[in-house]
Amino acid sequence: LAKRRANATLISHLTPPVTEAGLYRGLADLKASVFRWRALPPEAGAEERQGLAALIQAEAARLDLAPADPADLSWADADAAIARLHASLLDVEYALIPVGLHVVGQPPGAAQRAELLDAAGITDPARRAETDALLAADSELPAIIHALDGGYIRPAPGGDLLRNPEILPTGRNIYGFDPFRMPGAFAMDDGARQADRLLARHVADCGRLPETVAMLLWGSDNLKSEGGPIAQALCLVGARPRRDSYGRLAGAELVPLAELGRPRIDVIVTLSGIFRDLLPLQTKLLAEALLLAARADEPETENFVARHARAHLAAHGGTIETAALRVFSNADGTYGANVNQLVDSGTWQTEDELGDAFLRRKGFAYGTDGRPTRCDAVLGGVLKTVDLAYQNLESLDLGITTVDHYFDGLGGISRAVRAARGSEAAVYIGDQTAGAGTVRSLAEQVSLETRTRTLNPKYFEAMLAHGAEGVRHLEAAVTNTLGWSATTGQVDPWIYREIGSVFMLDPEMRRRLAELNPVASVRIANRLLEAHERHYWSPDEAMLDALRRAGAELEDRLEGLDMEQAA
Ligand code: BEZ
Ligand code: MG
Repeated sequence: LAKRRANATLISHLTPPVTEAGLYRGLADLKASVFRWRALPPEAGAEERQGLAALIQAEAARLDLAPADPADLSWADADAAIARLHASLLDVEYALIPVGLHVVGQPPGAAQRAELLDAAGITDPARRAETDALLAADSELPAIIHALDGGYIRPAPGGDLLRNPEILPTGRNIYGFDPFRMPGAFAMDDGARQADRLLARHVADCGRLPETVAMLLWGSDNLKSEGGPIAQALCLVGARPRRDSYGRLAGAELVPLAELGRPRIDVIVTLSGIFRDLLPLQTKLLAEALLLAARADEPETENFVARHARAHLAAHGGTIETAALRVFSNADGTYGANVNQLVDSGTWQTEDELGDAFLRRKGFAYGTDGRPTRCDAVLGGVLKTVDLAYQNLESLDLGITTVDHYFDGLGGISRAVRAARGSEAAVYIGDQTAGAGTVRSLAEQVSLETRTRTLNPKYFEAMLAHGAEGVRHLEAAVTNTLGWSATTGQVDPWIYREIGSVFMLDPEMRRRLAELNPVASVRIANRLLEAHERHYWSPDEAMLDALRRAGAELEDRLEGLDMEQAA
């Protein structure tokens, strides 16, 4: 925004170091038991095998990784159940997590640099040495001082270090992209694979293709990946960019059904305000792709966009241009859905208020002319057909429980869909931060982030080392988790229980948090109580009592601080 509106110079800085999450406490013990199972000799007796399987199931149940009931059918085949459990443990152990925060003026140490280079997949020794030297030098503070002196700041591409080491050295003025080349050829290739992965997951979970996908698009994510998420949306519809003779983006065209090999999926796209500002060509591209699909002379069984647009015309009349509106964002000059602000303030009564807030803010349709209009009949009609809501994760340092913008958008639309359909839609996250990409359900992603980050001593100790700001990050994770409960209802109750027991029940931990950041500490206790009052978990009496005491103890402390300050 600053660059677009005021020609601001932006000075880039590093993201935090990364590391593998590893296993801790019960998770580490469970892994040892799984390894004992795998090491059982073939001649081991049935009794020994059953005994060990029962022990593993009980250990896993305590960690909410298995059903507690020994007779549960999912554990009837112990070999298969333990293999699945092993896979879940590996997902946790090898997940990359950010460690602490980046402090401007403090380059990462040698071990942290080595982990960053590994995560970026830089193996060639000569390159590695060069990148390592760039990471080791502080180029950020000198650049800030130079800029304040009115000096020239050299340009650099924007992006994620793990994808593009060309962003080094930081301390440079980041520019974005060539708008006429987005989405690029690589993004289109990969977009097709990610779209297939999403559809396969929905088929595995629900037994059929989705008719409509609600997809959230961010500006920054598309800059980092040359339009990866835009490409996914186009691929779901079965469309691609049309280019002029210079190879510049000129509009959209349909991929023939025979080439697509499956029906065109209807897609309702919600753009962040930043996307709308930064990417007007791509806003029109998406609108044109959906209009072309709606107009195509194809059978409804092969084209869900046309099916829904024709149904709208039959019920409401009007033009195909209106019936094909699928690209939504805020009114000009406004940003966000305000769902995050409602959740932060706690001033909402029913979950439907959150879906309504989303629609009020994000219900402006952008057509092929790129201008916003309101058309609630189309929006309401399409929401009824949504089977799944989806957003990509594009960088490690922002998880869906790290910032409040994910539940604001993806959560907000999920709630609006639920109100329109009268039943829950599936919610998926496309994790693009590792390997070839993974689709997870919202519940899986929240669980994974909670295990690898919030509850992981490696993560929270690194945060606490940053003092007040670190506690504020932990508090944000709790509030964002409540945001997911409020908007989707898909957060497992154990998550609140474990956060409560790690941060609020242990008196020593409570004392540390309160000393580092009393305000954020009280908020953690109160947020857990709020989650209970809203029926997102049910603490036992001992936990409830401890939470209330923790809150009161901390409130006293805050008042004490006020009095000290007044004196
Ligand atoms: C965006 O780049 O569109 C964006 C980034 C952070 C929060 C919300 C939107
Ligand atoms: Mg905020």
